[in-house]
Parts: sequence; C-alpha cells; structure tokens
Amino acid sequence: MFDIHRYDTVDSTQEIAKKLVENGALEHTAVVAYEQKRGRGRLERSWISPAGGLYISLVLKEHDLLPVLVAVAVAKALRNMGIQATIKWPNDILVSGKKIAGILIELDLGYGIVGIGLNITETPLASATSIMAIGEQNVTRDTVMNAILDQIVLLENEGDDRLLWHFWNLSDTLGRTVRIERLHDSVEGVAVNFDARGALIIETEDAMTTVTYGDCIHLE
Ligand code: BTN
Repeated sequence: MFDIHRYDTVDSTQEIAKKLVENGALEHTAVVAYEQKRGRGRLERSWISPAGGLYISLVLKEHDLLPVLVAVAVAKALRNMGIQATIKWPNDILVSGKKIAGILIELDLGYGIVGIGLNITETPLASATSIMAIGEQNVTRDTVMNAILDQIVLLENEGDDRLLWHFWNLSDTLGRTVRIERLHDSVEGVAVNFDARGALIIETEDAMTTVTYGDCIHLE
C-alpha cells in the first residue's frame, strides 16, 4: 500500500518527494500531480508535463535492480490493460516503437526517488505516443496509476533472477544494433544481453562491452 500525496500543479513531483523524505517520509510514499511546470527527465532533460498525463514520484528502497523493477512494473501494468508495451534500455517504455512513459531514478537518504511520467491524453512530442493516441479511450489516470503501484508491490516480492527474466522478455533492445550515447563518448554494436545488474552488454566490432548508463538509440 502506498501513502499517496495528491497535488494539482507542481514544479516537479521529484522535489516534493525528496522534501518528504528529508522530513522523515518512509518507503511507499507517493506524490502525484495533475501537471508539472518544471518536470525533469533523464540526462538533465526536461519532461513536458501538461495536464492529462500521469506524473508520479515514489519513495522506494534503493537497490541495484530498482530501474529494472520499475520498468517491468510499468510495462506489465500496461500489458494487463491490453497495451503491448516494451522496454527500451535502460527504462523507457515504448508502444509500437514510440515512447509512452519515462522513468527517472534519483537517490536520496538511502531511498530511490522514482519518477514516472506517462502520456495519457496528451502526446507532447512527435517521437512519443500516449494511451489516447493508440486508441484506448477508457483508461483513467487513477486506473493506470493503481495498476503500476500494484505491480511494484508484486515485483518487490520477486527475486533478482525473476526480475531480470521479465526485463529480458519485455525488452525491445536485445538483438538490435544500437548506439549508446554517453556524456563524452558513444558505443555502437549489437545489444546481446543484460548483466546481473541490468547493465547492457554490447558486442562491438572488436569486443564485448558493458554499458551502465546513456541514451540508447535503436539503429535497426
Ligand atoms: C525520462 O527522461 O524518460 C524520465 C522522465 C521522468 C518524468 C517523471 S514525471 C514525474 C517525475 N517528476 C519529474 O520531474 N520527473 C519525473
């Protein structure tokens, strides 16, 4: 069960969740807002957050497979609603190759502050999609939010091997030629597997290399 704090408009639910943690909030606290004025994404990008999306930050126990657990939870919640979601490494959620949800994890006082942004009625970018855009009319913000929270609680009771098995099965990245763009360099090759922490193993022209972060571009 999550202790859910609800807001109308905020700068970023991440900031509110962090303040709650700094004031003693515990695991399974959640902050949800109708819109964000300064939504934040991975790699210091912004997350466009108009009314009509799900913007939620969760306080969860920090552990190595937290990014895997949350990506699997979002993808499985959507699949249970009949939406064929997949995961682009490390944790973008795609439908038909377009991004429908993103996940940002920041660490604070031993907790993972897990931000999830999911497009429901609005599609803020041409490269993105939304629940409405794929023709699902009857999914409300609370329905999808509760489905994700239920999945997180279920997956918290699964072992690491099982989490990685789901991650493997839901992956849209494995088997593809990819380019991983990092702050100062990039790596290109075929995505062949994940390691025990969910890092991506890439076969390049001359070696196997393991990447732990970056922007993953599917080339084929
Ligand atoms: C990404 O770049 O793909 C991650 C996007 C994460 C957006 C969510 S919306 C709720 C939470 N609050 C934020 O400011 N960001 C995250």
